[in-house]
Amino acid sequence: MRATGPQDKGNEQQNMGAKMKEDNAKIKENFKDIDKKLIVLSNKGGVGKSTVSLNLANYFVGRGYMTGLFDADLHGPMAVKALGLENAEVKTDGEKIIPLQRNNLKVISMASFIKSPDTPLIWRGPMKMKAIKQFVADVEWGKLDFMIADCPPGTGDEPLSVIQLFDNIDGAIIVTTPQEIALLDSIKAVNFIKEMDVPILGIIENMSGFICPHCNKKTDIFKAGGGKKAAARLDVGYLGKIPLDTKLVETMDRGRNLLSRFPGSPAAEAFNNIGKIVEESFTEDE
Ligand SMILES: Nc1ncnc2c1ncn2[C@@H]1O[C@H](COP(=O)(O)OP(=O)(O)OP(=O)(O)O)[C@@H](O)[C@H]1O
Ligand SMILES: [Mg+2]
Ligand SMILES: [Zn+2]
Repeated sequence: MRATGPQDKGNEQQNMGAKMKEDNAKIKENFKDIDKKLIVLSNKGGVGKSTVSLNLANYFVGRGYMTGLFDADLHGPMAVKALGLENAEVKTDGEKIIPLQRNNLKVISMASFIKSPDTPLIWRGPMKMKAIKQFVADVEWGKLDFMIADCPPGTGDEPLSVIQLFDNIDGAIIVTTPQEIALLDSIKAVNFIKEMDVPILGIIENMSGFICPHCNKKTDIFKAGGGKKAAARLDVGYLGKIPLDTKLVETMDRGRNLLSRFPGSPAAEAFNNIGKIVEESFTEDE
């Protein structure tokens, strides 16, 4: 054993710097065939980020795009179950992790690496960053038209890691609910994204009213429609609203695709409208 001298410290820093450079080069190389990268986030939990991420991904797949779903929610991953892939095993090709795939949708989620879904994950910041880094650098993503990163609520380690590791993000989508808008809570997520210099595609108002499956009458259970106003006030785009829809819960629980199974349902129509706006925001200027 020997004491660490200043010389070693210098070497250590040099090594760390070299390692980071190597990692960054690896990430760049691995992500080079991914065309558009989106991040979905919110201020509060349970407002529908995963629902939006999944259905937007399904919209892109339906439009013929090769799409990736990056589940950055390490504590409560759900993407795999919602795709009916909870029993599928993630394989490697000896070098890289092969993402799970259904049709033109590739997905990677911590859920695939946890033995029991009831096992809670207790991770500190640096460990989260490491896991997300692996999903970025060590997964065989291949060529994708769109990559959607679903984040846990808030503006903590996961969205920060995604923003830093993805290198550049083409657009952020902020999901809120009518109650949240009333409290202007979503402002925190908007400000976070603005500070990170990520372009904001817009706000989505989820759980906005309920359309009765029996008589098709719409009831605004919570005060609906504030999303548009909030977006204007925060000077960001508005992507639309999604009503509460029992078909949405039903399909997600069973790992089914709402857009192909119930294309005429209120939520599917809303997602198609939103998907179209997002798609056109990228295809128009090309
Ligand atoms: N428009 C909707 N109509 C009916 N149910 C919905 C709607 N949006 C979301 N839900 C349901 O609400 C619950 C929470 O949605 P979801 O998991 O997408 O939220 P989240 O923001 O990702 O949550 P978390 O913060 O825990 O990651 C889910 O059970 C989902 O099926
Ligand atoms: Mg979620
Ligand atoms: Zn009714």
